[in-house]
Amino acid sequence: MITFDEQQQVFHLKNKDISYIFSVEEGNLLSHLYFGPAIRHYHGERRYPRVDRGFSGNLPQSLDRTYSKDDLLQEYSGNNTGDYRVPAIVIRAANGSRLTDFRYESYKIVDGKPKLAGLPASYVKDDDEAQTLEVTLVDKTLDVQVILSYTLYKDRPVITRNARLVNTSDQEVHIEKIASMQLDLTKHDYDVVSMPGQYALERQPERQALRRGITEFSSRRNSSSHHMNPFVALVDKDTDEFQGNAMGVLLVYSGNHQFTLEKDQIDQIRLLTGINEYDFDWAVKPGDDFQTPEAIIGFSQHGLNGMSQVFHHLLRERVARGKYQYADRPIVINNWEATFFDFDDEKLDEIVKEAKPLGIEMFVLDDGWFGHRNDDNSSLGDWFVNTNKLTGGLERVAKQTHDGGMKFGLWFEPEMISVDSELYKQHPDYALHEPGRGMTLSRNQLVLDFSRKEVVDNIFNQMCKILDNVPIDYIKWDFNRNLTEVFSATAGADHQGEVSHRYILGLYDLMERLVTRYPNILFEGCSGGGGRFDAGILYYMPQSWPSDDTDAVERLKIQYGTSLVYPVSSMTAHVSVSPNQQTGRSTSFKMRGDVAMSGVFGYELDLADLSDEDREMVKEQIKFYKAHRQLIQYGDFIRLESPFDSNTVAWEFVSPDKSEALLFMFKQLHTNRFEINNTKMANLDPTKDYHDEMTGQTYGGDELMNLGLFRDPTHTGDFLSEVHYFKAN
Ligand code: GLA
Repeated sequence: MITFDEQQQVFHLKNKDISYIFSVEEGNLLSHLYFGPAIRHYHGERRYPRVDRGFSGNLPQSLDRTYSKDDLLQEYSGNNTGDYRVPAIVIRAANGSRLTDFRYESYKIVDGKPKLAGLPASYVKDDDEAQTLEVTLVDKTLDVQVILSYTLYKDRPVITRNARLVNTSDQEVHIEKIASMQLDLTKHDYDVVSMPGQYALERQPERQALRRGITEFSSRRNSSSHHMNPFVALVDKDTDEFQGNAMGVLLVYSGNHQFTLEKDQIDQIRLLTGINEYDFDWAVKPGDDFQTPEAIIGFSQHGLNGMSQVFHHLLRERVARGKYQYADRPIVINNWEATFFDFDDEKLDEIVKEAKPLGIEMFVLDDGWFGHRNDDNSSLGDWFVNTNKLTGGLERVAKQTHDGGMKFGLWFEPEMISVDSELYKQHPDYALHEPGRGMTLSRNQLVLDFSRKEVVDNIFNQMCKILDNVPIDYIKWDFNRNLTEVFSATAGADHQGEVSHRYILGLYDLMERLVTRYPNILFEGCSGGGGRFDAGILYYMPQSWPSDDTDAVERLKIQYGTSLVYPVSSMTAHVSVSPNQQTGRSTSFKMRGDVAMSGVFGYELDLADLSDEDREMVKEQIKFYKAHRQLIQYGDFIRLESPFDSNTVAWEFVSPDKSEALLFMFKQLHTNRFEINNTKMANLDPTKDYHDEMTGQTYGGDELMNLGLFRDPTHTGDFLSEVHYFKAN
């Protein structure tokens, strides 16, 4: 799969779908040649065409005015040494220099995929599944190495990348910037797709023409953030959901990230991603090393849906882990929107009593069970039960829930501290802050300094005390603010620029310890909704809460947008009350159910308040969901009609063998134009006949894909939904 042609000095990473080709050029510069659909054999056509270009300097000691780093497509560019484009790496040397210039030294090809120390990453189940190329580069002046890793999966159009710096010199160096990957591409008219958003409206994809200059998508919040998900795609102008080239790059990281795209003087494109260079400064002692997070490149010639499939499969099969990776995810009742902080034993018992006969499988006790927390002003950091509210402790609630035949789940927000808490009284320095400067409050809380091991240990021990004593089946892990005053009491003057990344390493360490010690607990990520919906978290937690916005109409967009990268098995979705608490919009119980059933399903409302009719609907929805849970959670999810550009919305789930499919169709607003809309399905078997259980009709797969189904134009009203289950005969 990975070869090195000694004569041509060309590396070729190739599987049946894709090729990635680069060469060692004059001066031992690594020159990028190609990334795209598989090429059987590279014959040398793409060597760097040399031009004497004014104001693009040449290599030191070289009289060849046609060879310049400034327009050479490279694999990992240096700083201030002849390439004026954005560098991949900036290092401050002991003498204050920030110059870098890494040249090829050697390579190694290994079977499989080495692990990344302390960081989440995609993995292999056995070494036949992938090969890894490790290319060692050296900056001879600094006497520092960078090892670029490229893993090619055998059966996936996926290459993963990372970089590791090794300080082989006898002096400390400071990394000011280190990209996980650089990808230089030849002149081409691309659009770039990003995933911006905000609180309660996460991952709303945007597509724009990539123009000259620098375009950046990033987060400085020390979180992957609601505001800009760590992903971009480069797509051809004519790429749509079903056809055209689409190349996605996903960073497996939950902190400050940076995606930089530069279109240069001759329209070549550079894409860089990694930890954000903002406020980053990492000291590496002689002999020490630094590992970057992983970047995943996924490619498809079958449009955005094709690209999404690549990421869905990889994230589900080779990033998510543990007992629940492929397990039926339980149907949840969560008390948050039903009670907020206002609950007691009696109220919880009532929810549990109501839930079981409806078929609900797990009760999750949300925020407010610990310390003396009755609102969001106190007690974060005090992970012991509030016995004023829960007189029999958590043990009693867990027992009551288990006796009722359901699993029991609990909410934590491990990274936070309230000023009004025992923990803060004992350890005010545990909160990130700079002495003498005010502390920015957000949701009236502060963030613990997880760059310090003793702080992580403290929270780990508190959580273990609960988890060792109370039978808990599930944890919802929340993170309800972003970081400010990122300054650590113990880091020292020269190491403050390390705190933000050390925080993330501390977070990953805590998650790893907990998932290892409690392999039977299902963990769900959350950050005020979907503020940390990323592949790093997915490595520890197979599902996350995509948004605090549970309005069914808004959720169409949020779930549609999220599915650009993330699989349905990672996306939880709950039915809540109408009018919706976030938007005030009224939608039918059916619409809310159909949107929520398109994810990992649950309820987030007061079951005691349900009308008899709604209660019957809940039973039906649960019955339907259980019958199709495997197909929804682990089938192929295909987007058909987008809520962003049409009033009608549709998506489907198809089983891997194409023997069954579920079609969900929604209408946003009614119009008296009585539009005739025709929904065409995709990815079915054209030679099979499919029986529609709802209507009793049978259609050919070719008919459903090419003729499609008319929606009933006389069906009036806003926010309507319709579901069809098809089974191949
Ligand atoms: C966040 C979560 C909610 C809920 C609250 C509790 O906002 O997204 O689901 O858990 O915190 O405070």
